[in-house]
Amino acid sequence: MTATPPSTAARPGTLASPGTTSAGRSVAGDLDINNLEVVYHDVVQVLRGVSLRVPAGSITSLLGTNGAGKTTTLRAISGLLRSENGKVSSGTIRYRERDIQTLPGTEVVRGGVVMVPEGRRVFKHLSVEDNLRAGAALGKGNWKTDLERIYAFFPKLETMRGKQAGYTSGGEQQMLAIGRALMTHPEVLLLDEPSLGLAPMLVAEIFENVRRINQETGLSVLVVEQNANVALRNSDYGYVMEGGKIVLEGRSSELVDNPDVKEFYLGVTAHGQRKSFRDVKSYKRRKRWM
Ligand SMILES: Nc1ncnc2c1ncn2[C@@H]1O[C@H](COP(=O)(O)OP(=O)(O)OP(=O)(O)O)[C@@H](O)[C@H]1O
Ligand SMILES: [Mg+2]
Repeated sequence: MTATPPSTAARPGTLASPGTTSAGRSVAGDLDINNLEVVYHDVVQVLRGVSLRVPAGSITSLLGTNGAGKTTTLRAISGLLRSENGKVSSGTIRYRERDIQTLPGTEVVRGGVVMVPEGRRVFKHLSVEDNLRAGAALGKGNWKTDLERIYAFFPKLETMRGKQAGYTSGGEQQMLAIGRALMTHPEVLLLDEPSLGLAPMLVAEIFENVRRINQETGLSVLVVEQNANVALRNSDYGYVMEGGKIVLEGRSSELVDNPDVKEFYLGVTAHGQRKSFRDVKSYKRRKRWM
């Protein structure tokens, strides 16, 4: 038995019009992943029955160490497994009452779910503004008004709109990558390790921005992180993954103080190796419940 994440009431308003409630506007639905299994090259099984939910309007974090299967989970949701020679071999991914696990990436984006891959992949030779316009290619609205909206979310980007993206800092590139994804009018944003390689102050700024956009627009966010502390402090609910399985989940406010999470993420053995989550107490306890 697993705990059910709290159903966050969908806040009205999407990126098309932050914080408004105009009639007929669609509001994000829950993203539901059920017993997901993913195989690469037809032989390497990486996900082994992953179930998780991103309630509409929530920020949900997915934590875990290297190779746990976090990126694979995001790729499966966003229809990007095919280019990696991977496929969903079993289980479902449902969004808005629709199974999306077999849709190509472009359809998933059109359906309102967009991923910002790890590594701040911006077009380095293009200007900041042209990078944002590239995001509008799959967008649904007027790119000029969309640009103004992104600049309102990230005023820093406006001040450097003509600058070549390759000459902006790591933090600015991360904001640009998020801004470009927001140009597609998503309802669900998937972020893969936005903190990677950034100084703590920049990480805090990026999470503050994401939090604010979530609060102002009701955008749902699934954020993958190895930085458990910052992710849990900026999310509503969290999952911990190891070896392609979810091994722990709970409200972020509780997980952040959970001694096992602290031990796992901060605890290093005498040999300098990380402990396995399987060795810490609550996982063993949970195993007994199942
Ligand atoms: N394209 C691929 N082909 C084959 N195996 C892959 C591929 N991508 C990932 N894997 C394997 O799947 C497992 C999970 O990888 P994944 O990238 O999903 O983990 P992760 O949790 O995102 O790790 P990290 O924190 O290092 O980014 C790893 O064992 C990895 O080697
Ligand atoms: Mg990864």
